[in-house]
Amino acid sequence: MAKRIDAKNLNIFYGKFHAVKDVQLTIAPRSVTAFIGPSGCGKSTVLRTLNRMHEVIPGARVEGTIELDGQDIYASTMDPVAVRRTIGMVFQRPNPFPTMSIYDNVVAGMKLQGGRQSKADTDNVVEKSLRGANLWEEVKDRLSKPGMGLSGGQQQRLCIARAIAVEPQVLLMDEPCSALDPISTLAIEDLIQELKEKYTIVIVTHNMQQAARVSEKTAFFTLSGAGKPGELVEMDDTDKIFSNPQQKRTEDYISGRFG
Ligand SMILES: Nc1ncnc2c1ncn2[C@@H]1O[C@H](COP(=O)(O)OP(=O)(O)OP(=O)(O)O)[C@@H](O)[C@H]1O
Ligand SMILES: [Mg+2]
Repeated sequence: MAKRIDAKNLNIFYGKFHAVKDVQLTIAPRSVTAFIGPSGCGKSTVLRTLNRMHEVIPGARVEGTIELDGQDIYASTMDPVAVRRTIGMVFQRPNPFPTMSIYDNVVAGMKLQGGRQSKADTDNVVEKSLRGANLWEEVKDRLSKPGMGLSGGQQQRLCIARAIAVEPQVLLMDEPCSALDPISTLAIEDLIQELKEKYTIVIVTHNMQQAARVSEKTAFFTLSGAGKPGELVEMDDTDKIFSNPQQKRTEDYISGRFG
């Protein structure tokens, strides 16, 4: 079920600004791929092109192709809303809908999808998604309470529950732990390990230990100077990137950070 992503000749722009150049990468199904690299090198930008979230920014544009199991997600016949349902996203800051209950937050994505479901079916999806996000036990007695009343780590897991409620095939996570304490971070990392049994996962992280802990593959991006486009330096098995990278730029970045 989980799908493979192939990006070819990817060039990404914000108006005239060439933000990312010539990226080729393949993301294997049922695995975790980490994107690492210095701030501004285009990690979030690349991530957002993988589910067509980039193009909602005025003036933003993508060249090249991105295929999901061989199907070009930018083809004129593809519906961007359907693409985003198949390729879900969890953002850096937990963003539960502020006025909604925990229950309604989980079903929010399904409502956007349209269609009708019985209350019992919806209840089932809510429980399954919250269990999937490892949050059920903590919230099962207060589903009608506001999502904003949860802790940061719980809110992030709520957003993960919302993302998986629509049964995506791929889950993109942009620094999902950056606002979290170490315990919540470990809970999310455990969750990622479970989710990869079903989903293809891409995670952006500034924490190299985290990349090393959770991912099988790591892509290192960098940029050669201010105003220059970001580029993919290399992508390989995570062990290899952290122990024996092919490129000097990767080595410099890794060793700089680990001191
Ligand atoms: N909405 C936008 N409009 C114009 N330029 C943007 C926009 N978003 C990002 N950029 C620019 O694109 C480049 C890449 O940004 P991006 O956010 O992808 O970097 P990043 O690697 O995710 O950085 P960080 O680690 O700080 O999150 C930067 O130069 C940034 O200023
Ligand atoms: Mg970013």
